[in-house]
Amino acid sequence: MAARRPLIAGNWKMFKGPGETGSFCRALRDADLGDVDVVVCPPYVSLAEAVQALAGTDIAVAAQNVHWAADGAFTGEIAASMLRELGVYGAIVGHSERRQFFGETDETVAKRIAAAEAAGLHVIACVGETEAEREAGETEAVLRRQVEAILPVADGEGLVLAYEPVWAIGTGKTATPEIAQEAHAFIRSLLDVPILYGGSVKPDNAAVLMGQPDVDGALVGGASLDVESFAAICQAASHS
Ligand code: 13P
Repeated sequence: MAARRPLIAGNWKMFKGPGETGSFCRALRDADLGDVDVVVCPPYVSLAEAVQALAGTDIAVAAQNVHWAADGAFTGEIAASMLRELGVYGAIVGHSERRQFFGETDETVAKRIAAAEAAGLHVIACVGETEAEREAGETEAVLRRQVEAILPVADGEGLVLAYEPVWAIGTGKTATPEIAQEAHAFIRSLLDVPILYGGSVKPDNAAVLMGQPDVDGALVGGASLDVESFAAICQAASHS
C-alpha cells in the first residue's frame, strides 16, 4: 500500500449550491470515513457554507481554482487571500477542464500555484494526458512538460499532484491500476510529492487503485457528490 496516509479529495465541479452543500457536509460529519485525510472542493459560492458546516472536524475545504494576483481588475477571478479569509485550506489548480475549456496553460498553472503557496494555501495541481496524446505515445512527454512547468514553484510543503488522465474523467473508463501506477511512478521521478489518482474513481475500484505503491489517494469527481459513495471510497482507501 501507499506509505503515506491516503488523501481523498472530492472535486464537486459545478454542482451543489450553498443549501445542498450545507446538508451534504452535515451528513459527511456523521459518516465513517476511516483513517484518511479528507478534502471537499465545492464551487466558490458554497465554500463559506462548507467551512461553517465542517468547523471542528478534520475535513478540509478547498476551492477549485485560485488567481495569481493579490487583487486587481480580473473579472470573475478569486484571490488566494480571499480564500484564506473564508477559512479555506487549499485549492485545486490546473484541472484538465480548466485547461480544455478555459484557456489554462502550464504557465498560468504555475503562476496560480506560486500565489496559492505564498498565501499559505495547500495546492492540488492536476496533470494528465488526453486520449489522443496517449494513443500517439506522448503520455510521458506530456506529463514531463506539465510537471516541469510546476517544478520552479513547487515548494514541497502543501503541494499535492493529481494524475488525471483526461480520457478517464467522467467517462467511466478508469485507468487500470497498472496504467495509474506507471504514470504515478514516472511523475514521482520528476517531483516527489503525494500523487492522487483521478478519473472515474468509484467505491468498487478505489481499493485496487489506492493499493498501488505510488498512488497516495484520489481526486474524485462524480462519486464525491453522494455521501455514501464518497464515504465508501474513503473507507476503501483507509483499508488498502
Ligand atoms: P470523475 O471522477 O467524475 O471521473 O472526475 C474526475 C475528476 O475530474 C476529478 O477532478
